[in-house]
Amino acid sequence: MSNRSSNPFFSSILNSRLQRRQVLRGTLAAAVTSMFAGPIMDGLKARPASANNTKLGFKPVPISEADTIVVPEGYTARVLIPWGEPISGSFPRYSLKNTGAEQGMQVGQHHDGMHFFPIEGKSPYEGSSVDGLLVVNHEYIEPRYTHAAAVGQALGPDGFPQKEDGTRETDQVLKEMNGHGVTITRISRQSDGSWRVVRDQRNRRITALTPMEIRGPVRGSDLVKTKYSPDGTRTRGTINNCAHGVTPWNTYLTCEENWARYFLNNDEDVPRDHERYGVSTDGTSRYGWELADSKADEYIRFGASASGASATEDYRNEPNAFGWVVEIDPFNPNSTPVKHTYLGRFAHEGVVFQSPVEGQPIVCYSGDDARFEYIYKYVSAQPYCQATASGALLDDGTLYVARFNEDGTGNWLALKFGENGLTPENGFQDQADILVNTRTAADFVGATKMDRPEWGAIDPRNGNVYFTLTNNSNRKSEQVDAANPRPENDWGHIIRWSEAGKNPTATSFQWDIFVLAGPEDDSRKLSGRPLNADNIFVNPDGLWFDADARLWIQTDIGESSQNQGEFAQFGNNQMLAADPDTGEIRRFLTGPIGQEITGVVTTPDQRTMFINVQHPGATTSEEEFAAGKINSRWPNQDPKIYPRSATVVITKDDGGIIGT
Ligand code: FEO
Ligand code: CA
Ligand code: CA
Repeated sequence: MSNRSSNPFFSSILNSRLQRRQVLRGTLAAAVTSMFAGPIMDGLKARPASANNTKLGFKPVPISEADTIVVPEGYTARVLIPWGEPISGSFPRYSLKNTGAEQGMQVGQHHDGMHFFPIEGKSPYEGSSVDGLLVVNHEYIEPRYTHAAAVGQALGPDGFPQKEDGTRETDQVLKEMNGHGVTITRISRQSDGSWRVVRDQRNRRITALTPMEIRGPVRGSDLVKTKYSPDGTRTRGTINNCAHGVTPWNTYLTCEENWARYFLNNDEDVPRDHERYGVSTDGTSRYGWELADSKADEYIRFGASASGASATEDYRNEPNAFGWVVEIDPFNPNSTPVKHTYLGRFAHEGVVFQSPVEGQPIVCYSGDDARFEYIYKYVSAQPYCQATASGALLDDGTLYVARFNEDGTGNWLALKFGENGLTPENGFQDQADILVNTRTAADFVGATKMDRPEWGAIDPRNGNVYFTLTNNSNRKSEQVDAANPRPENDWGHIIRWSEAGKNPTATSFQWDIFVLAGPEDDSRKLSGRPLNADNIFVNPDGLWFDADARLWIQTDIGESSQNQGEFAQFGNNQMLAADPDTGEIRRFLTGPIGQEITGVVTTPDQRTMFINVQHPGATTSEEEFAAGKINSRWPNQDPKIYPRSATVVITKDDGGIIGT
């Protein structure tokens, strides 16, 4: 959490219709009831569920603490491309002894957002259902599972081996940087129904070292000039790629989420473009990449102090080249990824697009996943034209931030230079300054501080937008508002809205809460009833609508809470499916120990689903790791092989559509 802005909470400025004092932790009080009874648009009204109108045809699976994947009766789950699977170059086999260079030819670590691009390359959702490019984000890495040198050391999930003089072995740093980024690999279905990697010239790793271009208003700004790019047009790499987006013109967007702590600033005065994002200032960065013993430029740049005579002689501006949405053309292995600065700089979870309409602007949404941060919308200046659409649509438009009013309405507040007080008198010099300091600009215009916005998803039938709000244990009772109604929100909820007049470019909307997650005595579905044994869940994160408007919900209970205390009743992280009309929810899948379930897409025929299992074994403590007691061995189940993140392929045994 780094939002210390004085941007007021609703509770201090509005006469709420909610009786907040009745909202007590652990109970559902009148406030929440009145919120559900509030004015909502027809498009958001619930229909009663019945056996005849449900979209969900499978039998729910129970909560699980087992080190395995469980899917409903009649379904099969198979592992595909675990971390270390070779995809390019000399195709080095996975081994703990792999070098940094070898990791760059293999699938990265900690799989997250993902898309299956049918091989024809014409549309992201139409074409082959047996052959395509799977594009997968790798959010972060666990050094302890990465290096042979870590065996026997007392290391937690973020711990890393260091030399006696405090520096790091350069090849370890290289291996960690090559474990980050994105994997692009061709896969195809075999005659026995399994899927395999295909050797293809488009197979490619994008890493924390890949050269990238900066576009949009920040291109060329003084705020991104560095020793590597004195004209502020380029940078190297993408990191902490959490969720993703898919453009209407068939490219992939990867989103930089918790990038800030990878950088270290030791200066006395830390600028707002570092401080407001949480760049490390306590002497250590997340992985200590700036400590690589070769002292090569690509590593020391993670030290972001002002050490040179000017910004073009050091890396004080390197953190400003991160926190963006990055576009990758998976079909062109020689293409340079592009950081699109008009989509704002923050802890981007993912980005989700409204269906494009010929002649109308394109519209997309992105959440800033940190406590008390915001939800944003981008509207292009130019209209969408299928024949010519490209990433240029993301380089000129308007970025808005959401304000959720207590009466069930909401407003999009423009973060545009010269509007809403975003002027030099108030500390914003130009549009580039606003975008590099997106959070500060959003504070200034009075956006609503949310409970950690994660993935968004859009109902393909009506354009209603859903966002997961995963949790916020820091929200105090005097800070609750209608959109974030629970103090100490340990469980999370899902909010949704409908743009005014069903027009995605509208500057107002109406919203309600789709589900309050939690145990049976502290949860609420659209029907007004609590969740039960078939669907209790907490900490919603991944969210995706399939073509039949089934809403898939994935959970991320943090590793310090999983199977502990009040969280024990929810077991391992899971995936559920919901009917957006009735609010019915059923648990579809449970994952192995220590992981989160994240990333979900199907082939166009909806008969193969891909999901990701990220960080199995992350709940292994430092002491357990040192003693070799690793609590997950998924997926290999071999005592000599560490747990590995992987994609999981789910099929229905009768060949049917997933979820029916
Ligand atoms: Fe990387 Fe917000 O999950
Ligand atoms: Ca996530
Ligand atoms: Ca998460």
